[in-house]
Amino acid sequence: MVQPLNIFILTGAGISAESGLKTFRDSDGLWTQNDLAQLATPEGFARDPARVRDFYSARRKILEIAAPNLAHIALARLEREMTALGGWVFLCTQNVDDLHEKAGSRRVIHMHGELTRTRCTQCSGDWSDRKPLTADQVCPECGTIGATRPHVVWFGELPMHMAQINQALEEADLFVAIGTSGSVYPAAGFVAEARALGIPTCEINVARSDNAHAFDRRIYGPATEKVSQWVGEVLGD
Ligand code: APR
Repeated sequence: MVQPLNIFILTGAGISAESGLKTFRDSDGLWTQNDLAQLATPEGFARDPARVRDFYSARRKILEIAAPNLAHIALARLEREMTALGGWVFLCTQNVDDLHEKAGSRRVIHMHGELTRTRCTQCSGDWSDRKPLTADQVCPECGTIGATRPHVVWFGELPMHMAQINQALEEADLFVAIGTSGSVYPAAGFVAEARALGIPTCEINVARSDNAHAFDRRIYGPATEKVSQWVGEVLGD
């Protein structure tokens, strides 16, 4: 008999790697190949907004053809079936892609923002946008021209939805981190918070993360294989 569980899942770039999206710190990662200080900080944007807009526009274009993989699909199934049993799945992603949503996950919290949304630097309004970011865009909320940026969290900026995230962590029965290097806080600290709350923890990755030691259980292998297997185990396949 499958028990209803409240499951907090943290995903990182590794869950989207087999969908063809680059991670950040692997050998061919975005920050291995590009200048993070120029492309993922408010200072870099202020210095060269056109270059930053072009970088995120290119990543946005890649999303048009990126498809969710078996790991995303397994998590969407877990949410459906665990919810039907009276539990819940809180899917907190560090990713700015929309593959969890494309796979059918309904409750997705993007703590680092969303590539498919644009923000106005004047009024801070944000809206769904899959077009290239350009210097002449007009904010639909305040009418300002040329004040747009990607609605993503850069280094030195605060992550989003932390109140919801902290509450879900306190109420969870299980904490699972999938495809994240455990190198960026506060996300990298969630496992320690879970342990302090007495919540069992598991990491699923192709290699040990920076905080692998903090997990009770560690499953290594490609997410498409190991997340599907783990979901089957939880749902009693
Ligand atoms: N299956 C499972 N895990 C994988 C796979 C795969 N096929 N391929 C790579 N990984 C793992 C790597 O082993 C690594 O631990 O995914 C992780 C990717 O790590 P990072 O590139 O550091 O990505 P992430 O942890 O999501 O980065 C966190 O850093 O730059 C910021 O905002 C950015 O959200 C990002 C944050």
